[in-house]
Amino acid sequence: MTNQVENYTGAVDRGLEGVVACSSSISSIVGATLCYRGYTIEDLAAHSNFEEVVYLLWYGKLPSENDFVNFKKSIASEMTLSGHFKELLIEMAKSFPKDAHPMDYLKAAVSVQSFFDPEVNSNEVHANERKAFRLLAKMGPIVANFERLRQGKDFIEPKSDHSIAWNFLYILTGEEPSEKHVKIFDTALVLHADHGLNCSTFTARVTASSLSDLHSAIVSAIGSLKGPLHGGANTAVMETLRQIGSLDKVETFVENALVNKHKIMGIGHRVYKNGDPRAGILKKYSEELTKEAGTEELYQMSEKIEKMVADRKGLLPNVDFYSATVYDALGIKGDLFTPIFAVSRVSGWCAHVFEQYANNRIYRPRLNYTGEKGKTWSDFASRN
Ligand code: COA
Repeated sequence: MTNQVENYTGAVDRGLEGVVACSSSISSIVGATLCYRGYTIEDLAAHSNFEEVVYLLWYGKLPSENDFVNFKKSIASEMTLSGHFKELLIEMAKSFPKDAHPMDYLKAAVSVQSFFDPEVNSNEVHANERKAFRLLAKMGPIVANFERLRQGKDFIEPKSDHSIAWNFLYILTGEEPSEKHVKIFDTALVLHADHGLNCSTFTARVTASSLSDLHSAIVSAIGSLKGPLHGGANTAVMETLRQIGSLDKVETFVENALVNKHKIMGIGHRVYKNGDPRAGILKKYSEELTKEAGTEELYQMSEKIEKMVADRKGLLPNVDFYSATVYDALGIKGDLFTPIFAVSRVSGWCAHVFEQYANNRIYRPRLNYTGEKGKTWSDFASRN
């Protein structure tokens, strides 16, 4: 085995396409069907809610009514941001550069949170469960308060008798959100909660596989999600729409992008070649909300891009494409879209880290060395 890898001359699978790196019972993608623990995403988006989906991801089944009440109590009891941690969150938001990326703030905030977690270095099952509640419950309030603080507004405490989605919109605006907006935002959280062995989930599992702690795995995953080829694409979609400017300029933009082989953000997917089911659900909300917000041209532009790229390249929108105009119509700034992805995906990351710990073997693949061989050291005078 060892010699085989060292003498390897074939092509390496760039991006590990087609490589099965682990077994998991959390989520599956078969054709254009995404399931969490066997339930389709369409079913969950229509009937469930984010907190229930988190329970499903963590415990493998839908909760009984009583278990769900207790589960929500556990989240509620961890939502508050208080004491020295809260002071540091405020201080960080004020002292970091004005243009600090919210994903970098979130990465720093979760790292700081670990210092205040009494169980940070325990990998005992129940300690990890308690840490996961703290991460899940606090991440939304951290991101939404960052937005307030960078605008010079006051820090707002979440209301623990409301959901994660409700609190996010409430903290952001300081006003109680409408039921409709909460439902749509909650559905967006449901759609982003887990997605097989995507880049950030793989990152979380790799970090956990060294038996590092849960916070370290989540911080690694946040760093991975930030990239524009992964979670950062939703922010990039909005930037693209703004850059294009109007419906009549879409055609030239798409033509140029395809001729010059520029990637159009929010389009294409490594796994879904016949369409991402999450995009279809978000598309309907995008149409509805952009009409309500008076930004329907952004929706029309998106539809035109979708059609042109599908006709020319057979590529279809992914989850990030229509989530951009949904969030924009909810009054959320573009650079917060990726942290919102993290607010949801932390649920899936935790589920995967639990699964990794339960049947761990450290990830340690090999590489195909292509550098020089057989060289010997020489002093400065003899070097070219
Ligand atoms: N815009 C234009 N062309 C695209 C494209 C896009 N968004 N995504 C893929 N393509 C083209 C590639 O240029 C390539 O064309 P070619 O065969 O003529 O060279 C072909 O489609 C295959 O693309 P490839 O880069 O090999 O796909 P991948 O599986 O490595 O990458 C993504 C998948 C998602 C990273 C890629 O589609 C992408 O970068 N999309 C934009 C970013 C994005 O939305 N990311 C969020 C994913 S959920």
